[in-house]
Amino acid sequence: MDIIDRVRAVLAGVTDFRRRAGRPYVTLTYAQSLDGSIAARPGHPLALSCQESQVMTHALRASHDAILVGIGTVLADNPRLTVRLVEGKNPQPVIVDSRLRCPPYAHLLRPNCTRPWIATSHQAEPERQAALEELGAHVFRLPTGYHSMINLSDLLAYLADKGINTLMVEGGAQIIANFLASRLVDQIIVTIAPVVVGGLRVVDNLSLFQSNNFPRLGHLFYQQVGGDLVVRGEPTWPAS
Ligand SMILES: NC(=O)c1ccc[n+]([C@@H]2O[C@H](COP(=O)([O-])OP(=O)(O)OC[C@H]3O[C@@H](n4cnc5c(N)ncnc54)[C@H](OP(=O)(O)O)[C@@H]3O)[C@@H](O)[C@H]2O)c1
Repeated sequence: MDIIDRVRAVLAGVTDFRRRAGRPYVTLTYAQSLDGSIAARPGHPLALSCQESQVMTHALRASHDAILVGIGTVLADNPRLTVRLVEGKNPQPVIVDSRLRCPPYAHLLRPNCTRPWIATSHQAEPERQAALEELGAHVFRLPTGYHSMINLSDLLAYLADKGINTLMVEGGAQIIANFLASRLVDQIIVTIAPVVVGGLRVVDNLSLFQSNNFPRLGHLFYQQVGGDLVVRGEPTWPAS
């Protein structure tokens, strides 16, 4: 698949990125409808992409060291974040969860899954941390910033210290918006499904971007995958 070859070539060229930038190379990826929805309703899963795109997503996962989702996605979708549709190694799962709402029944805590790393904050109760560690999770506390959310720069520095060179960020909406607003995205891969949903917009808070400071993609690559269109590019922001 051309898109996979393209992404592998990009990732092969960023082996020195972590040392230079002090953080992993970040790939932001998600599936959206034609109108920019990633779910029909907040907190509810919606299968948007076709089977071929799902295989592509698993191949993308296998090309990264770690994969990150917000706790909203864990609660809504209960994902496994594995590469079960392709050959390859499962990436290290990372959950951003400042209050340790991750439920004990989460697939990511199952014994046969790679033990998740959970980034939390001082707000989380020690009892919840102990319970999640009992189930095998590695829980670590980081400073919070805007709206008491985990500081994403600190999180990426932590992952870099742990040896993570490449990170795939898979959602959901708040995580995507905050990675973009923090300008911590190096490439974006969006799968566009030919359906109109009118649901949860991938980015609905335009105040995240000060006037006209919208990220624009360069080095564009387009490919039809099954019935979906995949767009890949590298964001740049105008000087503020
Ligand atoms: N189509 C797709 O590709 C795709 C992919 C993934 C998810 N989804 C959908 O997206 C929806 C979930 O999105 P969501 O926005 O509700 O949840 P989310 O982005 O997965 O997680 C957001 C939560 O993460 C925590 N968080 C802590 N620090 C954060 C930070 N710096 N930035 C952002 N979040 C931070 C916050 O909860 P605390 O305050 O409790 O820490 C926040 O409410 C679901 O409907 C799911 O199906 C779609």
